[in-house]
Amino acid sequence: MMKGRRVAPMILEGLKRLEYRGYDSCGEATVHEGRLYVKKGVGEIDKVHAELRLDDLPGEIGVGHTRWATHGAPTKENAHPHTDCEGKIAVVHNGIIENFLELRKELEARGHIFKSKTDTEVVPHLIEEFMREGLGFVEAVIEAVRRLKGSFALAIIHTDFEGMVCVKMESPLVLGIGRDGIYVASDIPAFLPYTNVVVQLEDGDVAIIRPGGFEVLNFLTGKWVKRKPRVIDWTADMAQKEGYPHFMLKEIHEQPKCLRNTLRLDKRYLTMMADLLCSAQEAFMVACGTSYHACLAASYAMSKLAKKAVHPVIASEFIENYGAFVGPRSVLLAVSQSGETADTLEAVEHARRRGATILGITNVLGSKLTRVAKVYVCQQSGPEIGVAATKTYTAQLSVLSQLAILMAERRGKIGHVEAEELWKWIHALPDMAEEVIRATEKDVIKLADEHASVEKFAFVSSGVNLATALEGRLKLLEIAYAPSIATSRLDGILTDCLGDGSVAIFVFPSSGSARKELLDEAGMARDKGLKVIALAQEGDEEAKEVSDELLVLPVPPEMPEVLTPLPFILPLQMFAYYVSVKRGLNPDKPRNLAKSVTVK
Ligand code: F6R
Repeated sequence: MMKGRRVAPMILEGLKRLEYRGYDSCGEATVHEGRLYVKKGVGEIDKVHAELRLDDLPGEIGVGHTRWATHGAPTKENAHPHTDCEGKIAVVHNGIIENFLELRKELEARGHIFKSKTDTEVVPHLIEEFMREGLGFVEAVIEAVRRLKGSFALAIIHTDFEGMVCVKMESPLVLGIGRDGIYVASDIPAFLPYTNVVVQLEDGDVAIIRPGGFEVLNFLTGKWVKRKPRVIDWTADMAQKEGYPHFMLKEIHEQPKCLRNTLRLDKRYLTMMADLLCSAQEAFMVACGTSYHACLAASYAMSKLAKKAVHPVIASEFIENYGAFVGPRSVLLAVSQSGETADTLEAVEHARRRGATILGITNVLGSKLTRVAKVYVCQQSGPEIGVAATKTYTAQLSVLSQLAILMAERRGKIGHVEAEELWKWIHALPDMAEEVIRATEKDVIKLADEHASVEKFAFVSSGVNLATALEGRLKLLEIAYAPSIATSRLDGILTDCLGDGSVAIFVFPSSGSARKELLDEAGMARDKGLKVIALAQEGDEEAKEVSDELLVLPVPPEMPEVLTPLPFILPLQMFAYYVSVKRGLNPDKPRNLAKSVTVK
């Protein structure tokens, strides 16, 4: 919102400064002389701008948005801003509104016409509804957000309101206080060239911005609050990373939030997937790299909980190994962060042509995988900019574990007490991840500093945590270029080959059938001159005895083993990151590795 200056060109520049995060569509809305002006389209900002001239909207108040689809494919209708029936209110939103379906039904029953498939569109209609009932704009916004469940950062304008109302709930939102205007953004880089005076809003805050300034009411407590401005000295590059030195570290720390998002998924689609997998004659999970490791871990959970074999297959091997007999009674669940990895899509295409049912788990709505899958689930991790996958891996683990539990329930393989217990653990994962990162990061930095110059590493674990060993090793290989192996058995030959001075990292869950063998091998490796680093759960005295260095995760020993890959991978991601940094490398841009992106 600017005094005496058209805002559309500034919003356009601000959106471009957030381009690094990835997006699939964009748009702007402004208010001028009691009218709302909206332009939006699909694709890169430059492309949309060339077609529509986003910067020529009139007015001193406006909002803009680049979208990373969470509900509804990337289309013009689904692009933000979203408006009410009368075209008086425009809303941009980041986050996920969990109860949008029920709100939408309620609003449609009251005659509201929806134009998009997004969760966001319920917001302008809900505000409109409260205004129809007689509330003023600000009061209607407050009533509307009280009805929302989920995460939301909202910026809302109205043709008859000289200003803007913004709301923050579990999604980031900051105000920028400039000399001739107030800026609002989900990320500081959007307005950093204009001001470095920022106000960080807190959950429940409703910021009411008017020409003279702003005031904040917290809708959770119903009280007016003061939020102090602070001056930041970040460069644009630092601001993009929210103060972290690399995107990878930022994304490692984002994992609790991303895990919370996986608890907000629409269970109907996961249940449909569970049913299709349960009734398949043969079922496969197909993926590459990190996503394959998530499938490998999930296959144990599906076997153990649901007693159903869902074969994890590296995508490039699928056609050779199973291509000849995959058919109409087969189900193939493709797991791909990008939804665009060539080998995965090739396996999918082959199976599809032979009549198999295709399911998908991806982070990119609108990707090829979402277009070919009969049922898909979006894991809602937001864009991952660091090339090495971190937050998308743990989100995949969470989604796949939920799927395994649903399969077990649908097949009647677990009773309600066990099911409740398992769901309790699933819901505990975000806080547990936060605690594991907080409690272990310092020790991991120390371990990485001490061992950064070690030449060879072995990652050892068995059962479901073989996936953890493989993923821990892949991270170290990808970003620190450390020759390393991952194995479920560190036998004498391997130990001899690795030789004196190498490091063996053992992942010891408190329970597990091969625990005794692993403990013996760790002891033996130590006797032969390898340095043994052990990762263990609380109270694990045995692991202490066989290791040189012990990293204890604040994870209760009674956690079901099939869910332990999630907490155990966190220190290993950090270990790879800090070894890479210590070696003077850039973990965000490893050699020989690029991320698949959606080509529009
Ligand atoms: C690992 C990594 C790659 C990807 C693999 C699959 O850090 O980034 O190994 O996991 O290329 O990519 P998606 O999941 O996009 O199919």
